[in-house]
Amino acid sequence: MRTHEQTVQQQFDPRAEAYLTSTVHSCGPDLEYARQLLEKTLAHCDAALDIGCGAGHLTFALAPYVGRMEALDPSQSMLATVSGSAAQRGLRQIEVRQGRAEALPYADESFALVCTRYSAHHWRRLEAAVGEMRRVLIPGGHALVIDTVGVTDPLTDTYLQSIELLRDVSHVRNRSRSEWHSLLHRVGLTELEYREWPTRLEFSSWVARMRTPTDRAAMIRGLQEAAPREVREALSLEADGSFTLRTGLFWLRKVS
Ligand SMILES: C[S@@+](CC[C@H](N)C(=O)[O-])C[C@H]1O[C@@H](n2cnc3c(N)ncnc32)[C@H](O)[C@@H]1O
Repeated sequence: MRTHEQTVQQQFDPRAEAYLTSTVHSCGPDLEYARQLLEKTLAHCDAALDIGCGAGHLTFALAPYVGRMEALDPSQSMLATVSGSAAQRGLRQIEVRQGRAEALPYADESFALVCTRYSAHHWRRLEAAVGEMRRVLIPGGHALVIDTVGVTDPLTDTYLQSIELLRDVSHVRNRSRSEWHSLLHRVGLTELEYREWPTRLEFSSWVARMRTPTDRAAMIRGLQEAAPREVREALSLEADGSFTLRTGLFWLRKVS
């Protein structure tokens, strides 16, 4: 029987190339906005950490503003992809390391910036992981959390989490903005800014990226067909199964 950690590795290890070329991951207004935040807020950033770097899109976007950029992920093949791409792009400040958000392999107060993008919905112990982000930040350091946000309506939430889990068994939960807000406050990260954008998930490429088995993809379509109007509207569900979530960006500070 597999643990959740083994399931995450099993899901992501064979998919590094698909994530490197994914339009949802390589583009997006959140990446450009994150770049602008760094440019205008941090005059100089010695060391930064990207948790759950995947194929490295956030790492590559922010590395030019950073002296040393650590890219952390449990998946060795994702890390190999990041190393290869970083070399091709001439981004020598990027170093990769295997590890997990819940137990960061770094000393206290190691980074001026800690960030993560589209990874936190896979973290089983979110509060412990956010506590780890705070621990490795220097006092006054910044954190950037980007993820697809959940919904507050319980019915839509049940459909959404079910669809996500059928597509990818390493999915844990899309947290709503208010869940994030209370958690970040509890852990001691002060919210400076919040932004969100619509993210359309085109059905066939969304399931292909995770190599969702055909029977599970059919179950997702069955659930979508059974969904009542309120749920269809909330997810902007389309005839081919494509739907739209919101990507949220939290810009935070460790105020001690
Ligand atoms: C969708 S990919 C990340 C995309 C990437 N950050 C980007 O900007 O394109 C999600 C990544 O989270 C990683 N991950 C899953 N659980 C994790 C955990 N507990 N700690 C750190 N990373 C984790 C997976 O291995 C995977 O590479």
